[in-house]
Amino acid sequence: MGDVNRSSLPRDFIWGVSTSSYQIEGAVQVDGRGPSVWDGYCRSPGHVANGDTGDVACDHYHRYQEDIALMRDLGVGAYRFSIAWPRVLPTGRGQANEAGLAFYDRLIDGLLAANIEPWLCLYHWDLPQALEDQGGWLNRDIVGWFGDYAQLIATRFGDRVGRFATFNEPSVFTLFGYGFAWHPPGATDPAGLYKATHYVNLAHGAGVDALRAHAPSALVGAIHNVQPARAAGPTAADEAAAVLLDEHWNKAFPEAQILGHYPPALARAIEPYIQPGDLARICRQPDWFGVNHYSPVYARADATAPLGFAWADAPADVPRSPIGWQMDPAAFRDTLIDVHRRYRLPIYVLENGAGAVEKPDAAGAIEDHERIGYLSTYTDALREAVVAGADVRGYFVWSLLDNFEWGAGYASRFGLVYVDYPTLRRIPKASARWYAQLIRSERAGAAR
Ligand code: FCB
Repeated sequence: MGDVNRSSLPRDFIWGVSTSSYQIEGAVQVDGRGPSVWDGYCRSPGHVANGDTGDVACDHYHRYQEDIALMRDLGVGAYRFSIAWPRVLPTGRGQANEAGLAFYDRLIDGLLAANIEPWLCLYHWDLPQALEDQGGWLNRDIVGWFGDYAQLIATRFGDRVGRFATFNEPSVFTLFGYGFAWHPPGATDPAGLYKATHYVNLAHGAGVDALRAHAPSALVGAIHNVQPARAAGPTAADEAAAVLLDEHWNKAFPEAQILGHYPPALARAIEPYIQPGDLARICRQPDWFGVNHYSPVYARADATAPLGFAWADAPADVPRSPIGWQMDPAAFRDTLIDVHRRYRLPIYVLENGAGAVEKPDAAGAIEDHERIGYLSTYTDALREAVVAGADVRGYFVWSLLDNFEWGAGYASRFGLVYVDYPTLRRIPKASARWYAQLIRSERAGAAR
């Protein structure tokens, strides 16, 4: 990466950290929370490494004040979290759960008192089980259920929250849930995938409308995983597989939501589920674009796979993070430039980070130099994208804390802060000190 001056970033650039409800909260049976699809999925054997569940996770539900203090020590300007839909609406709709709403009041008020902007995401994959039992994302009625949920949240928190996102990574939970059976509901059902894709997009439109109607001063967007989709091999069939993966992974949601159309192959597949006026209902100009990015993704042709392509590994010789994810900061730079050119919206990077399998050393410290290396080359790549004209206005590390990493359970750690799960003690890693220093020096630079 080239030598890019720090002052290349906008003066009010926001440095933050991100988490999500199921991954950190725990307290799954406390204060009236209803079950989510992940509670059941974790319990069914073979789905999550080591049989791990989110039952306790980081116990953030009870330790949120300590976690806010950790964020204050980092010096972050913003915190992105998600609401657990089944905590505030235990059966997904109908009667709201006051105790669940009150938890998020306490969290938001604590953040504001610490001078940290709350960025609230409505959906980070923990669908109420009661809605799944009625078809979940395969039932078109979910568009209305999601709209009502968005209205509840906007009405309750819109006086204190200035940033709302509808969905986190809609393509991941739909593709993994209905295409590859890696997430709940654990299906390999192409027709289900096409339907769910369309209904999630419609729910996004309904959510944006509800947020704008009931939190009129807030800025509204969605959070998309965007990374280059590459062919595993040099054949034309693998190239075609990569084009298809690109449609699913990078385009199915942002193109429909911002440009008002589906990419070509998906447009044909989704056609049977589209009713007149749907694309207009989906296409709502957002105020900003959230990018989550870790590493490129790969596809290879597989005529026997339900979707006609298979997920593939990166070439053997690429640089990798400690959990084996490819490290390619130039791909991050190019992604940011590409998102800028395609969508012309202010960009916030709402997830970027590195996973590791780690434990404290003899002195009790976590010297995570590989994570620091990853974060520093990726933030340099972000600066390069800004110099090249990309309108990037913020960067949030995934994650504040080690947490429940979906199918990988607790073995993959992404935190700036180590969590000792048996005691739930938090220990800031070397990367936390590195990030705090970066934020301090950026602020000093911006003030000059
Ligand atoms: C993203 C998810 C987030 C976390 C990171 C590592 O796909 O949004 O919850 O699991 O990956």
